[in-house]
Amino acid sequence: MKQFFYVTTPIYYVNAKPHLGHVYTTVIADVLARFHKLLGEEVFFLTGTDEHGDKIMETAKELGTTPKALADENSQRFRDLWPLVQVENDRFIRTTEPDHVRTVQRILQEVYDKGDIYFGEYGGHYCTGCERFMTETEMVEGSCPIHQKPLSFVQEQNYFFRMEKYRPWLVEYIKNNPGFIRPERYKNEVLGMLREPIDDLCISRPKKRLSWGIELPFDTEYVCYVWFDALINYLTGIGYPDAERFHKFWSQTQHLVGKDILKPHGVYWPTMLKAMGVEPYRNLNVHGFWNVDATKMSKSLGNVVDPLEMKNKYGVDAFRYFLVRDMVFGLDSNFSEEALIERYNADLANDLGNLVSRSTKMVVKYFDGHLPAPSGQTEDMDRELSELAVKVVNDFTTRMAALELHTALISVWTLISALNKYIDRTAPWELAKKNPERLATVMYHIMETIRIVAVLIFPVMPGASHTILGLIGASGDISHAGILPFGKLSPGTIVSPAQALFPRVEKVGESRESPQARPAVKAQKDQGTDNTVDISDFGRIEIKVGKILSAEAVEKSDKLLILQVDVGRTIQIVAGIGKAYNPGDLAGRYLAVVTNLKPTKLMGLASEGMLLATDTEEGGLTLVGFDRPPRVGARIR
Ligand code: MSP
Repeated sequence: MKQFFYVTTPIYYVNAKPHLGHVYTTVIADVLARFHKLLGEEVFFLTGTDEHGDKIMETAKELGTTPKALADENSQRFRDLWPLVQVENDRFIRTTEPDHVRTVQRILQEVYDKGDIYFGEYGGHYCTGCERFMTETEMVEGSCPIHQKPLSFVQEQNYFFRMEKYRPWLVEYIKNNPGFIRPERYKNEVLGMLREPIDDLCISRPKKRLSWGIELPFDTEYVCYVWFDALINYLTGIGYPDAERFHKFWSQTQHLVGKDILKPHGVYWPTMLKAMGVEPYRNLNVHGFWNVDATKMSKSLGNVVDPLEMKNKYGVDAFRYFLVRDMVFGLDSNFSEEALIERYNADLANDLGNLVSRSTKMVVKYFDGHLPAPSGQTEDMDRELSELAVKVVNDFTTRMAALELHTALISVWTLISALNKYIDRTAPWELAKKNPERLATVMYHIMETIRIVAVLIFPVMPGASHTILGLIGASGDISHAGILPFGKLSPGTIVSPAQALFPRVEKVGESRESPQARPAVKAQKDQGTDNTVDISDFGRIEIKVGKILSAEAVEKSDKLLILQVDVGRTIQIVAGIGKAYNPGDLAGRYLAVVTNLKPTKLMGLASEGMLLATDTEEGGLTLVGFDRPPRVGARIR
């Protein structure tokens, strides 16, 4: 029977641009979405932006703009960011969209008609950062514990949702459904919040104070409170109440949130759903915070990590790997570029990168690039390796499903180190001299284990996964069901030599200039008298059709542009075409791209390919192009 998986991120406020924290949650959601797709499930992945409320209104005022203009600008920033970090969401929702406004008004009216919304007066301490009232017990010396800013006292007549009425039901529900809120520590935190009576939730704001919101259907003098509006996005996103998608996916909802918004998701949202007569979401998955130098990231401290800078410097796969590997889901973690580099060098450059590069080169050297069939000559250590591979596949699967993401990766790396040891112990270079039959078995085991590793890393590092599978001739449809049994690779498949997949990084800020900084045409100037090449030399160079997804100028360079290019997978190219082309004009253009160059770094930015260009008559530069639309990813021969 078909399984469904619905994963959501918080919808982000549009008062500022995206930072590392937003990228973390969204990448984790993407990792889970990819993992569940690998399992063969039907997946829907929702993210978006939260655009109403005091916070947006105040920021717009400070910036001398309108809330709508601010929302449009910053929402677009989030939307543009996701493809750059290989996030493939199915819908990007904005709370200002008409279908969302309709859904919120419909729900408000229903809950009002049912008698669960009433008019009253309330005074309380409000935190604009959190967009909610703080209780006396939550406040620390008159301030919000999260934003560390004094709270303002607000007293006014408003509409209230009878949240307290549903408290006993929620306590029971949480107790009877282990894992409803996970990890455990957050479940306990919510149960703690529910130990004493909770106030009813103030769900309106008078328009005379705040007009930037969704109008209440039963009182045009008021707009809806931003959290009541925002949480409903999870329903709008899949077409509540009538769409087929809603009926398919809702019971399988996995919300991902940071610990800062536990109360709205753990208390407001389930009680709202109960009042609406909608069954609760399946799981609330709560993660910790990335801190910098052990303190909170904040604009005022100037320590906000720019995710794009990290992705540009180390490549999207490595950045995603670090985010998943270096945080224990549920706990806080410290972000530092040094830690990222250390992790990169140890796990990616040394363990995985070297493994793939030395192994593929051996198949080329000893078997002319054709995967050998295993001979009858097997030994205990071959069986141990294949048994470990099977165990790791199972371990990885269980851990991913339980959201133990970093241990899922640790498990894959036990297989990678075992394989590196296997190579050292079997010493194929010695076998090549004396025992070709045994060499065939050993090489087959090595490549087959690499195939399994490459499939397992797909959810976290889709780019590297595709590259490796391509090198070993195993890039058909990848699926979890297709991983095992051990021994799926077909002998005779062509294996290509891998260049360094993850070139070592020396230290923070280091950059290595390389000839690839120059456009191809300059590097190809006449080298001497005899410049003929053998046809097989030419065949080793892989030139493919690429389509530019995005282009940005590289800071402090008038020449370099950083391009994300679809060549069948997304690669990043740093190219010296900035004088000839405007970054804004490039998206959507087709290119000829050399795709199997050794990755390099230009001004500290990872570059994974080279585009072909030539001189114009005026002495400028022009990209090599096509006279009709080519197929993206097609080989140029
Ligand atoms: N708009 C609300 C959410 C409404 S959901 C119906 C909101 N937006 S937010 O822009 O402030 O995003 C908060 C979320 O961003 C956190 O819950 C978390 O997912 C992510 N992060 C923000 N800073 C973070 C860190 N420093 N570390 C990890 N993730 C954090 O709250």
